[in-house]
Amino acid sequence: MELDSALEFTDSLVFAHTGKHLSDLQRAVFRASWPLKNQSYDKIAEMYGYSPNYIKQDTGPKLWKLLSEVLGEKVSKTNFKSAIERRSQSNLATASQPSQLLDQAVQTPVALRRDPANLRQDWGEAVDVSVFYGRTEESIQLQEWIVKDTCRLVAVLGIGGIGKTALSMKLAQQLQDQFDRVIWRSLRDAPEIADLLADLLQFLSQSEQTDLPEDTASRVLRLIQELRSTRCLVILDNAESVLRSGDCVGQYQPGYEGYGELFHHLGVDLHQSCVILTSREKPKEIALLEGESLPVRSLQLKGLTVADGQAICKLKGTLTGSAEEWQRLVERYDGNPLALKIVSTTIQELFDSDISEFLHQGTVVFDDLGELLDQQFNRLSELEQTILYWLAIKREPTSLQGLNDSIVAPVSKRELLEAVKSLGRDR
Ligand SMILES: Nc1ncnc2c1ncn2[C@@H]1O[C@H](COP(=O)(O)OP(=O)(O)OP(=O)(O)O)[C@@H](O)[C@H]1O
Ligand SMILES: [Mg+2]
Repeated sequence: MELDSALEFTDSLVFAHTGKHLSDLQRAVFRASWPLKNQSYDKIAEMYGYSPNYIKQDTGPKLWKLLSEVLGEKVSKTNFKSAIERRSQSNLATASQPSQLLDQAVQTPVALRRDPANLRQDWGEAVDVSVFYGRTEESIQLQEWIVKDTCRLVAVLGIGGIGKTALSMKLAQQLQDQFDRVIWRSLRDAPEIADLLADLLQFLSQSEQTDLPEDTASRVLRLIQELRSTRCLVILDNAESVLRSGDCVGQYQPGYEGYGELFHHLGVDLHQSCVILTSREKPKEIALLEGESLPVRSLQLKGLTVADGQAICKLKGTLTGSAEEWQRLVERYDGNPLALKIVSTTIQELFDSDISEFLHQGTVVFDDLGELLDQQFNRLSELEQTILYWLAIKREPTSLQGLNDSIVAPVSKRELLEAVKSLGRDR
C-alpha cells in the first residue's frame, strides 16, 4: 500500500471513530514512521517546533494508542503498516469503503461541508469529551451565535470546574466541518503573547514564519489577515491565566497587556473566523465590546441539571439515594461537574455510597473542592476577600451600609461599591 493512500485511509478510519481528523503533527509522525521513510523523531520535532521528547513521549505513543483503538489491534511504530493493510483488505472484502465510513460519520449537511482537501486541524492538548451530558441549550445558543450570527469572538465563562473546557471542546467538534482550520490552545501556562501569536500564525498560514515581525501589534495584524482570508476556528482555553488576580476583575497580568490588544482586534476588525475563549473571569475587552446584536458575545455557564449531575456522579460508581436526596446533592454543589465527581468518590469511600449519610454529615467543602475554592478566592483583591468574610460571618442578606459599618479598615463608599460590583461580575 502506498504511503499517501494508507494515510488517507487511516485518517478516514480515525475520523469515523472519533469525529476528528489526524492533526498535522500526527500526520507527520505517521509519514516519518512509514517503513523506509524512517525519518527521526528529532527531525519532525525540529520541523514542527516541538521538543524531541514531546514527540517521543507524547505524540508518538498517543498516535499508536489511537491507531490501536481504531484498528482493533495493538499496533506500534514497527507494525502499524501491516495492520493498516490488513484492515484495508478486509474493508475491500466487505465492500465497506473508507469514503462510506466517512459519510456515515459526518452529519453536517453537504452544502455546509468544507472541502476536506483543504481542512487542517491542530487540537493541541484538547481534552477527551467522549462522555458528555446535557448542555443542549448552551450548545444550541453558541452554535447559533457562531454559525448564524457569524460572531467573531465568543467567551464561555464560569467558575472553575463548571465545564467550560468540556463544552467548548464538544462545540469545536460539532462545528469543525464548517471551518477550514481548527486550532485549540490552552493558555494555562500563560504563554507570552508573542509566542502564542507565532504558534497560531505558523499553523494557520502553514508555513515557517521566518519573517515574523517582532512587535505584537504587527503580529496581531498578520493574524487578522489570516483570519480574514480563511475561515478558522480558534479556541483559547483558560484565558484567566493571563488576567491579573487581586484588584478588580478583567485586567491583564503585567507583561500580558498584549492579550488585551489581541482580543480587541479579534472583536473589532472584520474577519470571517471565530475565536472562542474560555475563562473564569470576563476579560475587559469582552465586557466592552459584547452585545446582543454585536459580533462579540459571552455565555455565563451555570451548573448542570439534576439529571445530568446525577449521570456524572454515576460515572464514578453506584450511589444510593432517593430522588429527593439526589436533588439535594446536585443542588448543594450547584450542578458543578467537577465538584460532583469529587464528592461522589468521597461518598463512595467514606459513606458507604449512601447519599443520605453524607447529607446528614453536612460537610460541604473538603480536599480538592476546598482547593478549587481557594484558587478562586485567592484571585480576589484584599477588599473583596474582606467583604466575603463579612458576608460569611453575617450569614444573611446585608445592606451596603451594613457592610460599611462592619468593615473596620476605612474604605470609601465608592471603593466598597466597586468591590461589591466586581464580586458580582461574571467570574
Ligand atoms: N457536560 C459534561 N458531561 C460530562 N462531564 C463533564 C461535563 N462538563 C464537565 N465535565 C467534567 O467535569 C470536569 C470539569 O470540567 P472542565 O474541565 O470542563 O471545567 P472548567 O470550567 O473548564 O474548569 P477550569 O476553570 O478549572 O478550567 C472535567 O472532568 C469534565 O470532563
Ligand atoms: Mg477549563
